[in-house]
This record gives sequence, structure tokens and C-alpha cells, in this order.
Amino acid sequence: MRIGLAGAGRIGERHAAALGALPEVDALVIADAEPARARDLAVRLPRATALDAVDELFRSGLDGLIVAAATDAHANLVERAMAAHVPVFCEKPLASDLDGTFHIISAAASAETPVQVGFQRRFDAGNAAAREAVLSGRLGWLHSVRSCSFDPAPPPAEYVPSSGGLFRDCVIHDLDLIRFVTGREVVRVMAAGANRGDDFFRACGDVDTGSALLVLDDGTLAVVSATRYNAAGYDARLELFGSKDSIVTGLDDRTPATPLPERAQEPRRAYGGFLERFADAYDAELRAFLDVVAGRRGNPCPPEEALEAFYLAEACELSLREGRTVGTDEVRR
Ligand SMILES: NC(=O)c1ccc[n+]([C@@H]2O[C@H](COP(=O)([O-])OP(=O)(O)OC[C@H]3O[C@@H](n4cnc5c(N)ncnc54)[C@H](O)[C@@H]3O)[C@@H](O)[C@H]2O)c1
Repeated sequence: MRIGLAGAGRIGERHAAALGALPEVDALVIADAEPARARDLAVRLPRATALDAVDELFRSGLDGLIVAAATDAHANLVERAMAAHVPVFCEKPLASDLDGTFHIISAAASAETPVQVGFQRRFDAGNAAAREAVLSGRLGWLHSVRSCSFDPAPPPAEYVPSSGGLFRDCVIHDLDLIRFVTGREVVRVMAAGANRGDDFFRACGDVDTGSALLVLDDGTLAVVSATRYNAAGYDARLELFGSKDSIVTGLDDRTPATPLPERAQEPRRAYGGFLERFADAYDAELRAFLDVVAGRRGNPCPPEEALEAFYLAEACELSLREGRTVGTDEVRR
């Protein structure tokens, strides 16, 4: 297969390395708005070449395209791939706003070109098992769900203005995962945020820490927490508490939380970030995308799923701005 990659930044580099290790990928064609980045990446990988311009991607006879560019470039790149009938894997979020997301959904429906969205947590073995546990009834009825996304350190300051903000950029993973694992929809949210770290978050109207209480359509209460400042290490846990049993994913000897009273133990080697914590999940979602390209499986995360998660992120943002409970119907169109 000849696979294209648009965006050679943090996640693009990770996806490129994973694709380079898959024998099915005969050629990897890399382009970035800053061509030097594409060149620097391509020279480090087998069977990879760099293009001088992103436009060239769409004339290079691709079997599939990975969009790992900055968020505000997603919609345009996805639409151009669809126009060229090239199946696309697009990092979350699918677009930086609702209009862009809708546009892609209607274009994808008429183009019949698969668009897979990069919610890799669905491919984490623990999260997949949690979904099975909930849907099988093993936990009884859920009373509480807790999900967290704690980054050890903030992203570069220049990443933040085009990221969409903490809820669309980061919490959206938790929002998608809660829908995926519980099989329920969210009916209302109450969100809050804080700025206690670097000024560049506040300067572009963002928060560095946020929480949201979600009420699900069966009455389950879910709490989501996220921060850019968890120096103990990367922590992405999902806890599900039911009337019969409770389970947690992301809790292992690398989870950066010290039980008290402290016991003598080896120093913890906490997860350094999402790339490490979800390494297997990123690999699995790309293997799934190649299966989609080859027609061997259906799309595991179509644009409609991304839209639902985006609605929830929008509802959280609105709740944060207006300091009130927001019904998800208020943001639905
Ligand atoms: N699924 C995940 O866990 C996960 C993790 C990190 C980032 N992401 C998503 O991936 C995307 C990239 O994030 P990142 O952390 O790699 O950012 P980054 O800033 O490190 O890299 C973005 C790259 O995109 C390039 N770019 C910008 N506009 C472009 C265009 N029109 N065409 C081609 N390249 C373009 C930039 O030059 C840069 O090299 C974001 O949308 C982010 O939400 C997802």
C-alpha cells in the first residue's frame, strides 16, 4: 500500500514510525506545511519519502491518507482526500468546529470514502474489555463513572491557540470513551475550568485544568477530569462502578499515584505521556485503518461518532463559559 501522511509533528512522527513497521505499507509519503519537518522525518524511516508541498499528496496515487496535521487543517485535508476518493484516517478532532464536522459527514456520505477518526482509546485492551464488562451486565447497573486525562506537562505554547481548547482537544477522548464503554448518551453537563499554570492558556482563552459532571441517559453520573500539569506522570484512567462490581482501566504499576500510607517500593516508572501509555492502541488503530483501506473490515470510528463526542465537548465549553448546566440538546443540530 502507498500511504500518505499529512503532518510530521508529535503524533505524525509516532504514526509514521508505526506505519514504517507494517510490512503491508510499501511506501510512506510525508508532507508538512513546513517541508523541512517532512524531510527530517522521512530520512529516519524505511520506504519513506518527503514531498515539498502538501498539495502534492493528492496527486501521488495514495491508497490511504493519515491526517496528523494541526487541528485547524483537518477539515480541509479530509475533504480533499475524499474528493480524490482516498480513504482517510484523521486524528481527533475531525474538524475544529461543528460546521466543519457536519461538512465532512455530508461529504463522506455522498463520497462513500471511509473516514476513520483517531480515538485510539477505543483500541486500548483495557477499555475494550471494560466495554464488554459493561455491555454483558457483569457490573450490574452503573452508578458512577470517573475518567481522567492528566498530562505530565503542557504542550508547546504554539500548539494551544489552534488546539480548540482543553475540552475539544483533550477531554474529547474521555467523552468518546464514556459513550463507547457505557453504550449510553449524555443528556446534560456541568463543566468548570482553572488557570493555575502558564499564562499562555489564559492568553488564548483556554484553561489548563478542567472537570465536567455528565448525566447519562440512564441516570449514571460520570465525572471527567483533565489537566496539563500532572508532574507525577501521565494518567488516563477509566473507573466504572456498578451495582454488582467495579472495574478500572489504566491502573497498573506505572500509574502515577502513590497509595498512602506509603510502603517501601521500587521507584515508579510512570508513563511519560499519551504516546507511551497508548502505544499499543495507536498501533492497533492504524492496523485497523489498513484493514479498512483493504476492505477487510468496517470503519471502527466513523465521522458520526466524532460528531457525538464533539457535541459533548461543545456542551462542556458552553457550560464552562456560562457557568451553568447545559443540556446536550442545546448544542445538537
Ligand atoms: N489521538 C491522540 O492521542 C492525539 C495525540 C496528540 C495529538 N493529536 C492530534 O493530532 C494533531 C496534531 O497534533 P500534534 O501534537 O502532532 O501537533 P504538532 O504541532 O506537533 O504537529 C502538527 C504538524 O502539522 C503541521 N501542519 C500544520 N498545518 C498543516 C497542513 N495544512 N498540512 C500539513 N501539515 C500541517 C505542522 O507544521 C506540524 O508539523 C492535532 O489535531 C491533535 O489534536 C491526537
